[in-house]
Amino acid sequence: MSKRDQELAGKTAVVTGATSGLGRGTALRLAQSGARVVVAARRGEVLDELVAEITASGGNALAVVADVSSFADVQRIGRVALEHFGGFDVWVNNVGIAALGYFWDVPVEHHARVVEVNLNGYVYGSHVALRHFVERGRGALVNVGSVESEVPLGYQSSYAATKAAILRLGRSVNEDLRLAGHSETVAVGTVMPWAIDTRSGSTPPTTPGTRRGWPRWMPRV
Ligand SMILES: NC(=O)c1ccc[n+]([C@@H]2O[C@H](COP(=O)([O-])OP(=O)(O)OC[C@H]3O[C@@H](n4cnc5c(N)ncnc54)[C@H](OP(=O)(O)O)[C@@H]3O)[C@@H](O)[C@H]2O)c1
Repeated sequence: MSKRDQELAGKTAVVTGATSGLGRGTALRLAQSGARVVVAARRGEVLDELVAEITASGGNALAVVADVSSFADVQRIGRVALEHFGGFDVWVNNVGIAALGYFWDVPVEHHARVVEVNLNGYVYGSHVALRHFVERGRGALVNVGSVESEVPLGYQSSYAATKAAILRLGRSVNEDLRLAGHSETVAVGTVMPWAIDTRSGSTPPTTPGTRRGWPRWMPRV
């Protein structure tokens, strides 16, 4: 067992957006390290399959159906972790959606949804996590940003804006933790992946009810 696995064994981790891609992979890896995992997303049946998979390999997981753009839902994730596992040590804000196309062609309500999910959702998750960490005196918050947190690309301006905001959110909260004397025991990290082949890499995530084909405002290049 690696040192990292030893550190995670017996800890509790929350992972949002755990039904697919990076979130699912993170939840499985944490469970493999011996951490109890609270997995959250909107599709309950897919979460149940993940919990069954983790349980079958000797792990301990719990599903919470939640939409991260709802503060009440995000608070419920924290409450369930507290009730079932006595709290949590790690919280991974992982949900991300994009509205693809020229900024002016994408309907404004799709841009607004990107902000609700990618920015408000991370503020809600960070708030629930950090109140708990500060109270209990330890914890690690991981926000999944993107290479676009630093380098904005074309066709996804609201996504790039939220990912840059997430990076600033984490850095600013780390300052608060330093000023409040918690920086030795509580920390926020922002990971900034480049392109990874997941569901969001091949589907138009903001088109309700559709999982195949690009939206008509997506430029052909
Ligand atoms: N893939 C890449 O190339 C790449 C590159 C850079 C950064 N990232 C970032 O990495 C993170 C994960 O990306 P991914 O590619 O793994 O995504 P993905 O495969 O599309 O998975 C997104 C996850 O978020 C959940 N989700 C979507 N909207 C939600 C909502 N409102 N409330 C709760 N859950 C919601 C989805 O499940 P449900 O449908 O069940 O809710 C799913 O589990 C994102 O933050 C993304 O921006 C990805």
